[in-house]
Amino acid sequence: MNKDKGVIAIAGASSGTGREMARYLASLGYRVSFSARREKLLKEIEREITKSGGEAFAIRADMALYDEAKGFIEKTVERFGRIDVLVNNVGAGIRFADFENYTKEEIERGVSVNLMTVLYACKVVIPYMKKQKSGHIINVSSILGKLSRSGFAIYSASKQAVEGFSRALLNEVRKHGIKVSILAPAAIQTEWAEKAGVELPSDTRFLKPMDLAKAVQVLIETPPHVDIWNLDMISSEQVIDPF
Ligand SMILES: NC(=O)c1ccc[n+]([C@@H]2O[C@H](COP(=O)([O-])OP(=O)(O)OC[C@H]3O[C@@H](n4cnc5c(N)ncnc54)[C@H](OP(=O)(O)O)[C@@H]3O)[C@@H](O)[C@H]2O)c1
Repeated sequence: MNKDKGVIAIAGASSGTGREMARYLASLGYRVSFSARREKLLKEIEREITKSGGEAFAIRADMALYDEAKGFIEKTVERFGRIDVLVNNVGAGIRFADFENYTKEEIERGVSVNLMTVLYACKVVIPYMKKQKSGHIINVSSILGKLSRSGFAIYSASKQAVEGFSRALLNEVRKHGIKVSILAPAAIQTEWAEKAGVELPSDTRFLKPMDLAKAVQVLIETPPHVDIWNLDMISSEQVIDPF
């Protein structure tokens, strides 16, 4: 295997799209670190990648806690010497409800997991990327980062904040050779809906986790002189008015 195409840190990779990104990008020869809270699942992915000849580093971290997010980035740099790509993939749905019916805890948890995780990881990684004079931050948003739907107020607010933040950030860091991309998918076949207690309509057509892994490949393998700021994705069979 052609190792050392670069170092990719994926936050939120014990299941779903993050797990697929770790496996796929490692199979292409990238060295990957990845984080989440479920350590057992992370270790299984690490073993699987290592067994097939890839280089993987599982790091248990609650990315909604600043010190643990910091630890994830720092341990990645300690292990691999650099960090070329950070994929902020942590996110979670909040149960489908009118805003007034959310508890204070649900509001805080929603913002914390969908927004603060992104801010913390970016805050820590930027100095490393600036020093390298290169880097690529990919913030995973959602179609709800662009569209707003009743019943999804906290999730929409957080993902739209991720998009606003990403656009401001790219204005700040492009002069340092750092790219920022927003990856905004519609429905994906993962644990997301079940965990959130969100029942999607039975005719929903889904993207697959591998579609997202390949989208990351497209973003990071685009020639250096090209920036992709937004990559919006939807299953061609899912019916939503795009704008
Ligand atoms: N599935 C969809 O329909 C859909 C659509 C649009 C956008 N998205 C977005 O796509 C991204 C990936 O979601 P997915 O569909 O692959 O769902 P998923 O399987 O639930 O993946 C979410 C990942 O985030 C991790 N995570 C959650 N809270 C965390 C925390 N505090 N610290 C560290 N890791 C944490 C989870 O691991 P642990 O629980 O082990 O920590 C898991 O690995 C999310 O940003 C999601 O909002 C999903």
